[in-house]
Amino acid sequence: MGTRILVTGALGQIGTELVEALAEKYGLGNVIATDVRESDNCRSLDVMDAEGILSLVEGEEITEIYHLAALLSATGEKNPELCWKVNVDGLENVIAAAKQHDCRLFAPSSIAVFGPDCPSIAPQVTPLNPATVYGKTKVVGEQLAMTSDVDMRGLRYPGLISYKAPAGGGTTDYAVEIFHAALAEGHYTCFVREDTQLPMMYMDDAIRATLEIMDVPAEKLGNARGGYNIAGCSFTAGELVASIQRHLPDFTCSYVPDIRQKYADSWPDDIDDDVARSEWGWAPKYDLDAMVDAMFTGLRS
Ligand SMILES: NC(=O)c1ccc[n+]([C@@H]2O[C@H](COP(=O)([O-])OP(=O)(O)OC[C@H]3O[C@@H](n4cnc5c(N)ncnc54)[C@H](O)[C@@H]3O)[C@@H](O)[C@H]2O)c1
Repeated sequence: MGTRILVTGALGQIGTELVEALAEKYGLGNVIATDVRESDNCRSLDVMDAEGILSLVEGEEITEIYHLAALLSATGEKNPELCWKVNVDGLENVIAAAKQHDCRLFAPSSIAVFGPDCPSIAPQVTPLNPATVYGKTKVVGEQLAMTSDVDMRGLRYPGLISYKAPAGGGTTDYAVEIFHAALAEGHYTCFVREDTQLPMMYMDDAIRATLEIMDVPAEKLGNARGGYNIAGCSFTAGELVASIQRHLPDFTCSYVPDIRQKYADSWPDDIDDDVARSEWGWAPKYDLDAMVDAMFTGLRS
């Protein structure tokens, strides 16, 4: 039997593009998109509903699960209990179904696993002491990848930048919102300081990384398989503004940091992705200017 895919959280920033890419690779009929939110192209599935996941996996003869349902950092810190339930209990429900039906599983991690004690260029192996509940849920996810007896793989996505769907309540949302504000108003009020530097990645690179890691034979993946560091491009909010001004010279930005500054300050500036590069050939294609150019092309078309 061929590959049959379940995507959870499919209506989010990543799911919107990953479902398209998976449908292109495996055929639209082989990709079952689900989300807790209602939509025409998506089945209703709450990842808190263990029975619902099981019956869908069984009924649709699923062989691979891309588990994207989660609460992100900014939303999660407002409701830490719900964040834990959705991100950890939800993942455990998905793992149980994957185990019972021998499915391979992709479950993303995040740069939020790193805490204030991490070096400014985050190594693959370093103590993980995240400052947020969201980050803690991602550390648990990585541990489950190593202990659950399922072929489960993850990537520590940096902040993802895309134009097809809005960002979903994370700390790096400013790097997406800024493009919409630049085009609509010519001005953006940024919720982190101008010198705030974070690891980021254009969505095309993130989708390609996701497809690539799932194509690697299991025996090639080492102890980082629950959450590989992958670097895209790393820049400050001020550098992003300067790159946008290449397209819109009159664009202005002011900086009014809020609570998300604290989360940003607890994360590294950049990522060391040597392990992903050597184990499965990871390499990003988009630097800051290429990403900004692609965003404007996408938003204007
Ligand atoms: N976008 C980023 O910059 C980024 C960075 C690092 C890691 N990640 C991780 O990637 C994954 C997907 O992120 P995203 O940016 O697409 O998030 P998003 O918030 O845009 O989308 C998440 C989706 O999950 C759905 N959802 C929430 N609760 C659910 C539930 N109980 N059952 C089913 N669906 C539910 C939401 O409706 C939403 O459509 C998450 O695990 C996130 O932690 C994202």
